[in-house]
Amino acid sequence: MRIDINVPMDLNGNILDDIRIKSYVPTLESLKNAKIVLLAHQSRPGKCDFTTMKSHAERITKYIGRKVQYIDDIFGSHAIKKIQSMKKGDVLLLENVRFYSEESLKRSGKEHANTHMVQSLAPLFDLYLNDAFAVSHRSQLSILGFPEVIPCGMGKLMEREIIALDKGMSGKEHPCIFVIGGIKIDDSLNVVENVLMNGYADKILFTGVVGNVVLKAAGFEIGTVNLDFIKSQGYIKEIERAKTIIDRFEDKIEMPIDVALNDNGARIDVDLSTIKKDCLPINDIGLETIVSFSNEIKKSKTVILNGPAGVFELEPFSLGTHEIIKAATHSEFSIVGGGHISAEVRRMNFEDKFFHVSTGGGACISYLAGEKLVGIESLRRDTNI
Ligand code: 3PG
Repeated sequence: MRIDINVPMDLNGNILDDIRIKSYVPTLESLKNAKIVLLAHQSRPGKCDFTTMKSHAERITKYIGRKVQYIDDIFGSHAIKKIQSMKKGDVLLLENVRFYSEESLKRSGKEHANTHMVQSLAPLFDLYLNDAFAVSHRSQLSILGFPEVIPCGMGKLMEREIIALDKGMSGKEHPCIFVIGGIKIDDSLNVVENVLMNGYADKILFTGVVGNVVLKAAGFEIGTVNLDFIKSQGYIKEIERAKTIIDRFEDKIEMPIDVALNDNGARIDVDLSTIKKDCLPINDIGLETIVSFSNEIKKSKTVILNGPAGVFELEPFSLGTHEIIKAATHSEFSIVGGGHISAEVRRMNFEDKFFHVSTGGGACISYLAGEKLVGIESLRRDTNI
């Protein structure tokens, strides 16, 4: 069973929020009598939280009250021996599937099905379940390879996400606002293009690092340190793409009018016009932006939040994210997606004030944007969806 337990972790490998892990309790409960092998990823190659699944196995064990054995292998002889010796009721969690480089290649299901991983693992199983809604927008091996060669289906969490998002969107009313933040610039711009082109969104409010990209694209100085950060994440080309989006949809896009700089941990709010090349790191949207975006959000009937507005882990820079979350609770229909901002909604005890808190980030907004998620499509042959 492919699950998505990709969680926020600190530099010491501690899990900071485990709701994605907890969300699998119903699925695992319903499969008590099966032999279950779990396949999952943590972060991406090159990121500081790209690590093993050991602590994830301990956390699942705690929630389901039976041992989940972590195996530090994916499809080598050690993993295969362990799988072959399983008894009914056993649960294994294999190693971070992204440790195998072919996992992250964007390929068709047929191409993935020819890999050593699928060829070695598939014969050991009766059924492949995809319960990883949050990564089902990726054409990756563990999502597309197995449904090609063994019977497949979806898990309970995937089912719950689809039902909630479909129900929500069928009642969607205008004005519909997308508040886009966080750091996954490429994914965010894909969705923005999509929802603006198909008329889904009436307005996009940009915050977070993606907000800095849009500011740069609009010709504002954002300072060398902030531009270097965008470069270091491999997103420099996205500035050009953001320019095209702004030119085409100028009247539907709002970007910050001021920002909060981090001066040795202290928050300094500055107007964009005062920013010079040697400016300090931008860690949040500014106070005036917070007021203006909050008012805009409160007037909307539908609001979709994706990604934090700033470095909310640092108290002085949590203001933007918190105020945006609070404003969204006024909307008749509100959905929040993305690991970090969803975790913050729960930490604020606001989960009940949202129509749906999705376990997906990119997957959630892509689904809401009307895109077909490859991971869901690949299950169609064997399921009634
Ligand atoms: C997520 O956190 O959105 C999913 O786990 C997908 O992760 P990815 O964006 O690294 O593919």
